[in-house]
Amino acid sequence: MDETKSNTTPGELPLYPQRDLSYEFLGLRFENPFILAAAPSTDNLEMVRRAFRAGWAGAILKTTSVEGTRVDLAYPMMTTFTHEGKRLFGMGNIDLISEHHIDKVEANVRQLKKEFPGKIVGASIMAGKKEDWQSLVVRLTKAGVDLIECSFSCPQGNIGENPGKMLAQSISATETTARWVKEAAGRVPVSIKITPHVTDIVDVANAVKRSGADALTASNSIQALMGVDIRSFVPYPQLQGRSSYSGLTGPAIKPITLRTIAEIARHVEIPILGTGGASTWSDAVEFMAVGAGVVQYCTAVMHRGFRIIDDLTSGMAHYLDEMHFGSVTDIHRKALPHLADHDALPRHTVRSTIHEPLCIGCEACYLACFDGAHMAIDRGPGRVPKVDWNRCVGCGLCQHVCPVDGCIEMTLHEN
Ligand SMILES: Cc1cc2nc3c(=O)[nH]c(=O)nc-3n(C[C@H](O)[C@H](O)[C@H](O)COP(=O)(O)O)c2cc1C
Repeated sequence: MDETKSNTTPGELPLYPQRDLSYEFLGLRFENPFILAAAPSTDNLEMVRRAFRAGWAGAILKTTSVEGTRVDLAYPMMTTFTHEGKRLFGMGNIDLISEHHIDKVEANVRQLKKEFPGKIVGASIMAGKKEDWQSLVVRLTKAGVDLIECSFSCPQGNIGENPGKMLAQSISATETTARWVKEAAGRVPVSIKITPHVTDIVDVANAVKRSGADALTASNSIQALMGVDIRSFVPYPQLQGRSSYSGLTGPAIKPITLRTIAEIARHVEIPILGTGGASTWSDAVEFMAVGAGVVQYCTAVMHRGFRIIDDLTSGMAHYLDEMHFGSVTDIHRKALPHLADHDALPRHTVRSTIHEPLCIGCEACYLACFDGAHMAIDRGPGRVPKVDWNRCVGCGLCQHVCPVDGCIEMTLHEN
């Protein structure tokens, strides 16, 4: 708390608190828990420089491969998933890895480490053969990279033996390839970026752990079909009458990422870099509370720019003060003791209670309950609908369709 600085003049309320957010993770010093995910924002030296100056703790440079790897991009590559008027609720892309091969990325790593020795410079790699994976690692470690991330989960598939499929969908390929990478990386930490598109994420995490790799990046974009034009029947994105599956990113995938991180953290002891759907500082708190050690941002930056780092750091500082936490590490795994399998959940009797003064009489709860739940809400003669507790089972649907926060509450009842 004593480190709290404010950017206001003396006597004013500290609107944007700042404090030391630094901590150790994977043997590296992060100045805050916010880093850039491998993406277009990290594919250009000047852009990463601007991000670092803005205050990002680090960046994973966009995935590179060995010289000669064909990267055949198709444009336009971006789609938005607009939900009830909210643009970029989710974003789709059919991007591939960087068009810059290892020469360029190696030079960028060297330059960034020279100019910003205190920042975490990570690089993402993808290859097919063992010698290619290992040569990428050797060149990046010699250039001074802090962290190597391996993309085993590009939604357009990996290169190598099984094109179109994701490496992380095979337990044996994951373990073997991660072992090659770690063998070559020596003391430089290696994180394997995985996909939630698997039968059991715990099996994948265990394979990574057995390989000797240091961490998991959980998790990549979600394979998706972004929509179909209902007149031309061409799905999105549209490339002269053709389309393909996209990688879905942004707020829409946050619940999937949270579950993926939590499931790994509950069953496997391995550090996790969280990615997939984080946009705000409180998203980072949630990611860390279920087991992430650091949080990566991509779509939020593509939408609102590097400057969101100001909100992220001041929001986190304010939160730590409010919670009387000494460091961001105090958040780590805090939510996990509250997670249980379904059969271990408490079975209490709950019922819906409508707080009359807050009700605006829109009847959204009535309609939802009448057609979607238990016909337990009556319109009644007045403005406020009435809950019939004999029919109400306490499912909570009414609370979630109500547009007024706090108007409907689920209350505990004696059996
Ligand atoms: C246009 C675009 C390109 C991306 N390229 C890569 C890439 O080269 N390597 C990689 O591992 N992830 C790549 N990603 C995935 C991001 O690193 C990130 O994991 C994903 O976008 C989910 O995070 P977000 O919801 O914060 O965007 C890309 C994402 C986007 C939107």
